[in-house]
Amino acid sequence: MAGKIPRSFIDDLLNRVDIVEIIDARVPLKKKGREYWACCPFHNEKSPSFSVSPNKQFYHCFGCQAHGNAISFLMDYDHMDFVEAVEALAQHLGVEVPHEQGHAPSRAEDAQAQSLYSTLEQCSRYFQDQLKQHSEAIDYLKHRGISGGTAKAFAIGFAPAGWNNLSGDPQQLLQSGMLVQNDSGNTYDRFRHRIMFPIRDRRGRTIAFGGRIINPEDNPKYLNSPESPVFHKGEEIYGLYEMKQASSQINQIFITEGYMDVVALAEHGLSTAVATLGTAINGGQIEKLFRLCKKLVFCFDADQAGRKAAWRALENSLAALKEGRIARFLFLPDGHDPDTFIKQHGQQAFLQQVTQATTLTEFLFDELLAQGETHSPEGRAELLDKLRPYYQQISLPSLKHEILRELEKRLSMKLDADLLRIIGDHPQAEITKTVIPEQHWTPTRLAINLLLQQPSLAETAGNLEELAEADIPGIDLLLQILDCIHEEPGISSQNLLSRFQGHPHEEHLFKIAAMTPAMQDEDSDIQPMFIDAIDRLRAKYADSRFQRLQQKLLNGDDLDEREKMEYSQLLKRS
Ligand code: UTP
Ligand code: MN
Repeated sequence: MAGKIPRSFIDDLLNRVDIVEIIDARVPLKKKGREYWACCPFHNEKSPSFSVSPNKQFYHCFGCQAHGNAISFLMDYDHMDFVEAVEALAQHLGVEVPHEQGHAPSRAEDAQAQSLYSTLEQCSRYFQDQLKQHSEAIDYLKHRGISGGTAKAFAIGFAPAGWNNLSGDPQQLLQSGMLVQNDSGNTYDRFRHRIMFPIRDRRGRTIAFGGRIINPEDNPKYLNSPESPVFHKGEEIYGLYEMKQASSQINQIFITEGYMDVVALAEHGLSTAVATLGTAINGGQIEKLFRLCKKLVFCFDADQAGRKAAWRALENSLAALKEGRIARFLFLPDGHDPDTFIKQHGQQAFLQQVTQATTLTEFLFDELLAQGETHSPEGRAELLDKLRPYYQQISLPSLKHEILRELEKRLSMKLDADLLRIIGDHPQAEITKTVIPEQHWTPTRLAINLLLQQPSLAETAGNLEELAEADIPGIDLLLQILDCIHEEPGISSQNLLSRFQGHPHEEHLFKIAAMTPAMQDEDSDIQPMFIDAIDRLRAKYADSRFQRLQQKLLNGDDLDEREKMEYSQLLKRS
C-alpha cells in the first residue's frame, strides 16, 4: 500500500501538464479568444459552453457548472479515482509518482496487508476449488439460475461443512476474519457449509467474503467477514470490480441490497449492478458511484424495510447531486427483489420497470406527505417544515427548480416570496446566474477574477483586513484568496484554484474565474484594473463606516475618541 502523494508533487504536475492538450485528446477543442471551447462532455448541449483556459489551466462549463483542473477532468471523464488520475498525468509527463513516507503505512503494516491479501486470495481459490467438488453447492447455484460463467466472473465458491478446513498461517487467517477464536483460545472456520461470495476491491484483490447458507435450517442466512486491516465495510461496494471488468461503458448503475441481486442481474446481461454489504448506503459510496456514472437506480423491495432503505439512500444522495447526476428509485412489485424479478420476468421486463422508476422529487414528496395533507393551512405549513432540511441540502439549481414546481403542484398554489423564505430559499443575488452580466462586474468579483489570472497582484493590494467587517458580498472569499497567496507567494493560478476545491464557494469561484471581464482585452495590463477594483472596495468600506457613524450621531449616541477621529477623516474625504 503506497503512502500519500505529496501536495508539492501534485502542484508541480498541474503546473507542468497542459490541460488543453489533455482535454483536446478526448474532446476536440476550438480556440476562440483566449479560451478553448467545446460542447460540454458532461451534459447534453448543441452549442459549446464548455471552456478551457490555457492560462489558468482549468475548465468550466457555463451550462452545467462542471469545472476543475486536469486531475478532476480525468476523474470525471475517464472515471478514474484521484490516484489513478495523478498516475495517468505523471505517466504522460514521464515522471514517477512519489509517496510520502510520513503518512504512509509503515513497512511492517504494508507487509502485513500484503500477506492478508494473499491469505484471502488463497482462501478464495480454495473455495472456488471446493465448489467444483461439491455437487450440492453446484446444484444450489443451478437452482438459483446462476451459470458457470457468472459464478466464475464473480469467483463464487463454496466453504464445505466442518470446523477446520482452512489451512494456512493461523495468525493471518484470524486477522483476516476467516477464523474465529473462542474463549478457550481455540480457533475454527468462520464460514461453514456456505456459498462464498468474495468481496473484491477496485483493483480486484479479495478483501472479505459474504457467505450464504445452502441448508435452509442454518442461520444466519448471510454471514460477512468482520472489519479487518484490509476491509472497511462502509467504504466497499460489492460488484464494483466485476462491473468494471465486464463493461467498458456504464450507462446506469443499479444499486441493490444483496449479493444475489448483483449476480442475478449479471446473469441476465445487466453487468452494472452493485450492492452495499448489508448496511445502508452512505454518502461516500454514493459519490464514488456517481463518479463512475451519472445515473444511479436504487433498487429496493417494495416492503416497509425497502422504503426505509430507499429513504436513507435519498437522504444520503442529496449532497452528491450535481448537474447531470440523476438518482431514481425502483420499487419492484409484490415482494420481488431484483433477483427474483429478473429471473421470473427477464431482462426486458426489468428494464421496463426501470424506465418507470420513481424520480427523486416524486419520492421525496410521497414520503413527506405519507402522513400529511395539503388541504389545510396547518397541513401545508407542516409540509414546508418537513421539506426545508432536505431542500437546503440541494445545491443543484435545476433540481431545486423541479422541487419547487412539484411543491406548487402538491399545494395547488403559486409560491410567493414568503413561502420561499419558509423553505429557506433566499433569492441569492446574481450569484446563481449562469453568466455574470457585464454590469455586474462588482469590484469584488473583478478583484477575484484578476487575482486568479495573476496571483502576484496580491502584493499590490496592501492590507485589507479591516474590510472583513464590511458588509460587502464576496469579501470573505476575496480575503481568503489573498491569505492563500500570502501564505504561498509565487503560487500559480492553477495551484491557487486547486486550494479551493471542496470550498463552500468553489462553484462560484470557478465561475468567476472562467469569465473574462468586459473591460479586459487581449493585451491589457491588468494591474491598474486590479488596483482600481481594490480602491473601489476601500471606498465602499469607507462609505459604510461613514454611514454607521453618522447614524450613531443622528441617534444621539456619543462617539469615542477613535470614532471621532475616524469620522473627521471620513468627512474630509467626502
Ligand atoms: P436479503 O435477506 O434481502 O437476502 O439480504 P437476498 O439478497 O434476497 O438473498 P437471497 O436471495 O435470499 O439469497 C440482503 C443482504 O443483506 C445482508 C446480505 O448482504 C444480503 O445480501 N444480510 C442478509 C446479512 O448480512 N445477513 C443476513 O442474515 C441477511
Ligand atoms: Mn433475494
